[in-house]
Amino acid sequence: MSQHNLKEKINTLCNEIQSTLVPIELLTVEESKGIIKRFVAATEGNFQCWLATALIASRSSDVRSTVEKNLQVEIQENHSSMLRKFAVNAHAEPDAVDFRVVSQAVEQVRWLVAECSGLKCIALIAMLESVSFIYPYLSSLARKAGSDDLTYTNIHEIEDPDHAEQFSKALSDEMTFGYNNPEQDIDEVISVLSDLYRSIFRCH
Ligand SMILES: [Fe+2]
Repeated sequence: MSQHNLKEKINTLCNEIQSTLVPIELLTVEESKGIIKRFVAATEGNFQCWLATALIASRSSDVRSTVEKNLQVEIQENHSSMLRKFAVNAHAEPDAVDFRVVSQAVEQVRWLVAECSGLKCIALIAMLESVSFIYPYLSSLARKAGSDDLTYTNIHEIEDPDHAEQFSKALSDEMTFGYNNPEQDIDEVISVLSDLYRSIFRCH
């Protein structure tokens, strides 16, 4: 698959997610908090594990070194705690209901990651890093909920486009390492991530 086709697939996913974002002015404060709660429930305990699996599963040594650098930053800057602080200050810590709402979509991602396919894991991370437009949206939700602690969203808004570029290159590299159906694998990742973001951003 060409770099152009890959970019088109990523753009399609981005457009689909963007279409599910309800304009801030149409949301109540409770609905705004609800989206943050579901985002935290879906990602806080999972992202570093998914990144670590990408490190274990990648066949390309160049790709592994890209993943390793990113994982190091994630851990050393303690992004999990940064996200928790973002939620606490927006009075939007997830509860059992929030975890339940996203659980089916999160399970799908977990089973995908459990296959330990380097290609699927790198595609997953590449796509997660490509949706940096969600961070200004999350910032606006937090402001609506009365918070001015935007450290988590500001950092990801700035860093993720660069990470997205790195992982897009990594994905093209990993694809050349003998996978049978790379295009099909990437489509599966896109489908799983569409469900995940729909479960987070759609107001129920
Ligand atoms: Fe992060």
